[in-house]
Amino acid sequence: MARILLVGTATLDLVFGLDHHPGPDEEMRARSLRICRGGNAANTAVVLSRLGHQVEFLGVLADAPETAVIERDLSAHGVTYAQCPRLPGRPPTSSIYLDTGNRSIVHYRDLPELAAQELLGVDIAGYDWLHFEGRNIAALADMMADARNRAPALPISLELEKPRAGLEALFGFPDLLICSRGFALHHGHEAPRDFLHWMSGCAPQATVVVAWGEAGAFGSMPGGPVCHAPAIRLTEVVDTLGAGDTFNAGMLDAITKAEPLDRALAQACALAGRKCGIHGFDL
Ligand code: FRU
Repeated sequence: MARILLVGTATLDLVFGLDHHPGPDEEMRARSLRICRGGNAANTAVVLSRLGHQVEFLGVLADAPETAVIERDLSAHGVTYAQCPRLPGRPPTSSIYLDTGNRSIVHYRDLPELAAQELLGVDIAGYDWLHFEGRNIAALADMMADARNRAPALPISLELEKPRAGLEALFGFPDLLICSRGFALHHGHEAPRDFLHWMSGCAPQATVVVAWGEAGAFGSMPGGPVCHAPAIRLTEVVDTLGAGDTFNAGMLDAITKAEPLDRALAQACALAGRKCGIHGFDL
């Protein structure tokens, strides 16, 4: 099992279970309300820990009582977070509307992002893998450069989920890029193979993977052919929140075990599919 450091956000999620999405001006009653920890890197961390890895999360935590929800959940799942800086403010918070098959997220944050020097204080030689959420670009470029400098053999992965200005400054660093369909579409690629071709040109050193919803996932290693794994079909979809983050965990789990890319894609799709069949991340 690998020692994995995940750098990104942990959020407070208010997840409303609905029968349908509200229309404009509609007032409705939710079927359920779950108040829980979320955030891409934190979600991926929890799944990786459940898969048996030794996992640490690094991100800013708000010095506020609501952070207890986040800390309790990370601790309950065996994810360590002792090196997280604490800053005044409140946790990044999401209001999430979930009906079968859809989730809408309204997110608010005013907590500062992680400063680059926070990674400088971490002894990265103690990890087998370093994963970053693609955000906070200037600081992330410094963190990745620092990691490459101090631990040249330490593999780095980067999640490209949301398009953000300046992300291309990060493309030259990672060994593994995990992209979303939304990211590919934003860059004008409506076919996964076209996207892989373009992205591999931007990051020729990296294995590039893209998750494509019901069409499964696609990936290619530097100079290699395109591999594909189908999505798994579920009889009942109950919760798609964090399915992408779970896919990322499936990829990292397989790649840290040196599984070939086609097997890694298949495992990631299976895990993400299984997650959609349950509430939360207790896979
Ligand atoms: C799901 C998620 C939620 C969080 C939101 C942040 O992928 O990480 O847990 O509220 O996205 O964008």
